[in-house]
Amino acid sequence: MPSAKRSKIAAFGSAFPEQVLTNLDLEKIVDTSDQWISERTGIRERRKLRDNEQNSDIAAAAALQALERAGVSPMEVDCILGCTTTPDRWMPSLASAVQAKIGANNGATAYDVLTACAGWMTGLQAADAYVRAGVYKNVLVIGSEALSRFLNWKDRTTCVLFGDGAGASLVTPANVGDPGEILELIVHSDGRYGDILDLPGCGSQMPPSLAVLENNLQYIRMNGQEVYKHAVRNMVAVCEEALARRKLTVEQIDWFVPHQANIRIIETVGKKLNFPTEKVAINVHKYGNTSAATIPTCFDEYVQTGKIKRGDLVLMTTFGGGLTWAGGIVRW
Ligand code: UT7
Repeated sequence: MPSAKRSKIAAFGSAFPEQVLTNLDLEKIVDTSDQWISERTGIRERRKLRDNEQNSDIAAAAALQALERAGVSPMEVDCILGCTTTPDRWMPSLASAVQAKIGANNGATAYDVLTACAGWMTGLQAADAYVRAGVYKNVLVIGSEALSRFLNWKDRTTCVLFGDGAGASLVTPANVGDPGEILELIVHSDGRYGDILDLPGCGSQMPPSLAVLENNLQYIRMNGQEVYKHAVRNMVAVCEEALARRKLTVEQIDWFVPHQANIRIIETVGKKLNFPTEKVAINVHKYGNTSAATIPTCFDEYVQTGKIKRGDLVLMTTFGGGLTWAGGIVRW
């Protein structure tokens, strides 16, 4: 396959489970209030998979929508990256499960990317490199999560924050200046802070056991305040790094699409970067934190509703367990 000068996001697709869980619903199952959740996080409701639905169902639906919008058939897909912390099974990968569900049965490479909330941007960086190196032509990058399956519904400090959802993107070869061109992608990690946001149980360190279950170690744990501090500092820094690399200023950016974890983090990062609020994309109130799915689904929503227009410069940033964080710029 010939190498390409650039790569582009040819299309997005999104899918959410139908079941809605509002803050008032949560008030009935845990000691919390709509007021606390709204004021501290901006979240009003989130989506939750039903028992008979899987992560791969929404991931496949989002992937098919992206392929249809791009006019590419599943058999033309060369590589599928499942960006997730919550695959259907530890093995095979979410990407393999999606491959079977969408009928991408041409031997395409399929594997998962685990960098928590930075998953989709990490996958996008790999896809961009693959396409530009001529390794693959059509790469599906899917950020998709079934976080509700890994939440302790008795722990009010975590269960109110997260939701399920899937955002897919198709990355293809491009020329300089093509719509959707990926201009910059930076992904960082610092493993020293792995303990402040983790899912400790049922991995090889702590295989499933009664003790693991009794201590709720099969669920997501988080030191919210520590995460908050690192999130703000690192997202601001990586955005400045991405802008500097491209010799762009905030004034030249049309839209800021940050990770949708918490409205206060979004507002603080936006303010520190000097973004006017009308340039900041937000949908955390509807879906909560869907981890690797937040940026592709929010970007997609703003494109579908005509807010992000062709030619707009879009700055994205994210932050998650690892610790991981990323920044990137796309000319839509
Ligand atoms: O993708 C990255 C994922 N993670 C994040 O983005 C999380 C970053 N952190 C945050 O967004 C915030 O730290 C939280 C929203 C998680 C928490 O907000 P906070 O302002 O840092 O609250 P806090 O942890 O300091 O807790 C304040 C109080 C505590 O009560 P006391 O000790 O003051 O009596 C908590 O027990 O709020 C209590 N609390 C709650 N109350 C009602 C904690 N969770 C809840 C809840 N409902 N759901």
